[in-house]
Amino acid sequence: MEIPAQGLGPDEAYKIMVGAVIPRPIAWVTSLGPGGIVNAAPFSCYTFVSNKPPVVAINVGRRKGTPKDTARNIEAGGEFVLNVVPEDLVDAMHQTSADYPPDVSEPAALGLELAPSRIIRTPRLAASPINFECKLDRILDIGDLKSQLVFGEVVMFHLRDDLVANGKIDMKRFRPIARLGGPLYARLGEMVEMASAHPDATTKAPARAAR
Ligand SMILES: Cc1cc2nc3c(=O)[nH]c(=O)nc-3n(C[C@H](O)[C@H](O)[C@H](O)COP(=O)(O)O)c2cc1C
Repeated sequence: MEIPAQGLGPDEAYKIMVGAVIPRPIAWVTSLGPGGIVNAAPFSCYTFVSNKPPVVAINVGRRKGTPKDTARNIEAGGEFVLNVVPEDLVDAMHQTSADYPPDVSEPAALGLELAPSRIIRTPRLAASPINFECKLDRILDIGDLKSQLVFGEVVMFHLRDDLVANGKIDMKRFRPIARLGGPLYARLGEMVEMASAHPDATTKAPARAAR
């Protein structure tokens, strides 16, 4: 099947893209709304885009042309926290995606505990084992629907001690949840370890399961 992209409506293109670009990590973003209300919402259209300085990019779509609370808060306050989502918080994370009005705090409504940040005012989600305190770098409007691509510079990393070994995050202990298409989520499955790629390699070593 071949599908020219030009004639596709946004919903049709969305269905293909969220089915093909998987699994997606989830940025569970806390931001400060008017009057200091703490907003939380998940965004899986996200990645890191620089490591000096560390920068993440999160694509926040608009709701009927209007910015979502997260993008509006970040634009107004210039900061946010990216909380990662472990498997056991999938339900709470999913609930925060409901369309709450701007004057309702999702963490308060759902009983999610907050923890203070070090550098910025926006608090972290205490149950999340990895949090990035971020300052707004820029927001770009993308495409006809003007999706808001938010770039945030990470100014402080919070890593739960038991997840770190030799300066690296231990992938066996960190059990993140990823988003697939629609209502489906996935855990990390079997890991595969490869030798370094080399142009002179004459023999191909088979991939082996990581222990
Ligand atoms: C796992 C998951 C991932 C999501 N990813 C995105 C995303 O990448 N971009 C987006 O605009 N909305 C995404 N959403 C929907 C938002 O979370 C939802 O619109 C939310 O109500 C926005 O909250 P806010 O208005 O408080 O910012 C996602 C929802 C879920 C459950």
